[in-house]
Amino acid sequence: MEFQDIAQQRRSVKSFNPDRSITDDELHQLFTIVTLSPSSFNLQHWRFVVIRDAKIKAELRKASWNQEQVEKASAVVTVAGKLNAYDDAEKIFSDAPDNVREQMVKMTHGFYADKPQIQRDEAIRSGSLAAMSLMYAATDMGLASGPLIGFDPVQISQILSLPESLIPVVMIVLGEQVGDMRPRSQRLSLSEVVKLESFTGQGLQ
Ligand SMILES: Cc1cc2nc3c(=O)[nH]c(=O)nc-3n(C[C@H](O)[C@H](O)[C@H](O)COP(=O)(O)O)c2cc1C
Repeated sequence: MEFQDIAQQRRSVKSFNPDRSITDDELHQLFTIVTLSPSSFNLQHWRFVVIRDAKIKAELRKASWNQEQVEKASAVVTVAGKLNAYDDAEKIFSDAPDNVREQMVKMTHGFYADKPQIQRDEAIRSGSLAAMSLMYAATDMGLASGPLIGFDPVQISQILSLPESLIPVVMIVLGEQVGDMRPRSQRLSLSEVVKLESFTGQGLQ
């Protein structure tokens, strides 16, 4: 599918066919694309917990403001961000020459260690970029998707047994859409959101 069509087609879908299942092969295809997403120092802060089990989806729904799509979707993907992803630098750069690997390990530790705000920012940033890839890749595969942050992160972490080093970034529901969507809600004008040369400069016409 052309990228323009993917971007036009993607919507935050809320009604799903509960009888449609998603196979491991589909997930494999999806996450092979998703993990090509960019991340700072290539640390790949994202981790994904995929729930297809009906009982666990029902629990997730309760922890997600009772939003129906969480139970009806074929899969609920919680995108989590790893706060201490810099601990993976050694592994991530294991195929680099020794001096490059040592430099990257030093740089990433210097950048993130003992800096909880930056660790959190980066976990959210990388997780969010992966989440966007996930929604576009799903659209390309003919799967409907929807992002959610209407959930209790503590309860979600408990249900999914997330370790303390992982924070829930966003949930993505996946499956087959049923019914029609309302027309896409209004976007702010380009001139309001795109400024040329300075934020006080002219808006893009
Ligand atoms: C970070 C984030 C969190 C969202 N959380 C929810 C949510 O909890 N429940 C929901 O129904 N929609 C949620 N949405 C969907 C937005 O309402 C939707 O993206 C927006 O209205 C634009 O619609 P569109 O995605 O169909 O273009 C969320 C979207 C984002 C990006």
